[in-house]
Amino acid sequence: MADAKIIDGKALALEVRAQVAQGVAALKESHGVTPGLAVVLVGEDPASSVYVRNKGKQTAAAGMASFEHRLGADTAQADVLSLVEKLNADPKVHGILVQLPLPGQIDADAVIQAIDPAKDVDGFHAINAGRLMIGLPALVPCTPVGCILLARKALGDLTGAHAVVVGRSNIVGKPVAQLLLRENCTVTICHSRTRDLPAVTSQGDILIAAVGRPEMVKGGWIRPGACVIDVGINRIEGEGGKSKLVGDVDFAEAVKVAGSITPVPGGVGPMTIACLLRNTLRAARAIEGLDEE
Ligand code: GUN
Repeated sequence: MADAKIIDGKALALEVRAQVAQGVAALKESHGVTPGLAVVLVGEDPASSVYVRNKGKQTAAAGMASFEHRLGADTAQADVLSLVEKLNADPKVHGILVQLPLPGQIDADAVIQAIDPAKDVDGFHAINAGRLMIGLPALVPCTPVGCILLARKALGDLTGAHAVVVGRSNIVGKPVAQLLLRENCTVTICHSRTRDLPAVTSQGDILIAAVGRPEMVKGGWIRPGACVIDVGINRIEGEGGKSKLVGDVDFAEAVKVAGSITPVPGGVGPMTIACLLRNTLRAARAIEGLDEE
């Protein structure tokens, strides 16, 4: 069988960002409103610093206002909460993202639930999670939206497909399962306690791997011809002691079995920031009373 088709996340992210930039220009023109995204980083986690810098650059490149707040690693929870309150009240800010993970002294859930749901561009607030679940318009987590756009790019209409999600996090596993249901898929969610995981994953016409374990999903876990979306970004030691990025899927094996597959890097990763910009434009339009739903 021929190798799987590689789903190009970089190219699709470029398309999404171009659409967002158009929407931003139109909103400025018609209503004099510039969407603004505030990103809060607490501490100096190196991976988070890189993400935050990239977010800032791409926000500005889409024509939006970017506000960056860097707080020390020992910042008290009350200070993070008062910054969130200030951003909730700031009319120039339409989207608020508090970068995770947060240092141990801060209760991440308390911070997330303090964000105005209308500005919750991560889609992590209980109001948005609940609205997604019952089919109301909501701000939806960025990585799951990216996964759906990538699967649609590869397969077109997803109706009737059996989608298997490995991972049950609030950030990816649970929301992506909801979105797949909305696409009329039959959805199975499995996780580390699932009995005979390979027997379950190999039933998926679509397989979404979001477990955070390097190269866990082997070729034999994949249904021949399936569409494989790899959400993992894991840094491991490669040949000669050099560090390299790998997904949750063993790409070398999977590419021989799957029909289509996202690479790491260059698959889901670039889509996450593109979808964050898309959410920020959506939030700005909704806050300005221009709901698209
Ligand atoms: N850390 C890793 N991914 C994310 C994300 O999507 N949102 C936030 N806020 N933090 C993250």
